[in-house]
Amino acid sequence: MKKILSLFVAALALAACSQKGPIKTEIPPRPAGQTDVLGLVTPALETVRVGFVGLGMRGGDAVVRYTYVPGVKITALCDVVPERVEESQKDLAGRGFPAAAGYSGDLEAYKKLCEDPNVDLVYICTDWVHHVPVALYAMEHGKHVAIEVPSAYSLEECWALVNMAEKTRLHCMILENCCYDFFELSALQMAQEGLFGEVVHAEGAYCHNLDPYWDAYWNNWRLDFNQKHRGDVYPTHGFGPVCQVLNIHRGDRLKTLVALDTKAFNGPKHVAARGLANPEQFANGDVSTTMIKTENGKTILIEHDVMTPRPYNRMYQLVGTDGYAGKYPVGQLCFREEAMEGGSIDYQNLQGEKIIMGEELQAFMEQHRSPILTPELEALAKQVGGHGGMDFIMDYRLIYCLRNGLPLDMDVYDLAEWCCIGELSAISMEHDGAPVEVPDFTRGQWKKINGFSYAFAK
Ligand SMILES: NC(=O)c1ccc[n+]([C@@H]2O[C@H](COP(=O)([O-])OP(=O)(O)OC[C@H]3O[C@@H](n4cnc5c(N)ncnc54)[C@H](O)[C@@H]3O)[C@@H](O)[C@H]2O)c1
Repeated sequence: MKKILSLFVAALALAACSQKGPIKTEIPPRPAGQTDVLGLVTPALETVRVGFVGLGMRGGDAVVRYTYVPGVKITALCDVVPERVEESQKDLAGRGFPAAAGYSGDLEAYKKLCEDPNVDLVYICTDWVHHVPVALYAMEHGKHVAIEVPSAYSLEECWALVNMAEKTRLHCMILENCCYDFFELSALQMAQEGLFGEVVHAEGAYCHNLDPYWDAYWNNWRLDFNQKHRGDVYPTHGFGPVCQVLNIHRGDRLKTLVALDTKAFNGPKHVAARGLANPEQFANGDVSTTMIKTENGKTILIEHDVMTPRPYNRMYQLVGTDGYAGKYPVGQLCFREEAMEGGSIDYQNLQGEKIIMGEELQAFMEQHRSPILTPELEALAKQVGGHGGMDFIMDYRLIYCLRNGLPLDMDVYDLAEWCCIGELSAISMEHDGAPVEVPDFTRGQWKKINGFSYAFAK
């Protein structure tokens, strides 16, 4: 009798589960009087006056890069550590630029920078916890914002940025530089030309052993964040570029996600080795894996691993009905043999596909250049650098669009969709990999724009 009863209870629970569907998170109603900011254009700025907040490893380099971007004045610098402001002032002087207004000394010094009338764009490179407070304050004070990745770490933060961008009708861009790497740019172009047929599945990752870096972060913020947060806390390098290929919120949308993580094996050792508190309480698993399904029936696999000695890998794979692109460990394209001219079947490797790599890949990428990558921009980007040039291409595009009053390549909805993976994956993990609904941050407008494209001045 007891066994029958427990079977009955189990059946009821199963029925309840299947009726419930994916776990849902709250979608706050759009505040009255607000409309979406899809395709947002703002008045063209002849010169863009930039203020930087956060001048550590990333922000310090950004200041130097911006001295090479046409149409920029660096008007303000802020870091809680005064010496970092001084270092960036020296970099400006070294490049022959006038000193910028300096703000420093405490965690709220950024407010003065945001209030500074000589700033149009606030470029935020702080630790993750300070991104959103700075961005909200800046937009409230009439500034466009560009925020390092991940720009927001919780759903609440994602919605706050969406609402603020809609309220103020200012740009709020995620600084996802990996969308501008050379392979990704060409592969996106090929996908848009239809070379891969329909791209049905994509993969992205951030696998980067951070052992040599943990101690370099200000106030130990990164290890601390990983200790306190479960989920894929750094999803956007792998996710952003493939979302552009899949036209997310430009005809398709992220629908449901499931995620699992390993136990935290190595994280606690880093905490213990530094004599920090509660090493046994470490929320972030060494390897996190998330799968997302889109409304149009595509899938995306995302991985995060900063804890194991594994070769650097952002995965970047596009799986299409007629072709494939993969970047790591070596760049490859793959097409059906009959689609290629002059190919022959490789009987030794039992392959009926034509694989393109090495010099042939370079030539192929050259034939399918991204429209944003002029030879002049490529040469300058490689000279200035920043992850091989992709950082500079991102900076250049941001300023180009602001100077020409064009929609930016990445809008606030991209930011929210790419960053929400952090908390949503944690929710799924907390429920043993249960499906979680991805909120529609456009609140019903995900088909308004048809396909991802770059804007150009006429
Ligand atoms: N896109 C990329 O490839 C890439 C690469 C590295 C880092 N990042 C991102 O850049 C950001 C910064 O990383 P980092 O490596 O430079 O870290 P970092 O620790 O070297 O620098 C962070 C800086 O922010 C400052 N700061 C913190 N709170 C502040 C506040 N309230 N006001 C003013 N300054 C404040 C700190 O003093 C520090 O100088 C992070 O979001 C990180 O994820 C992105």
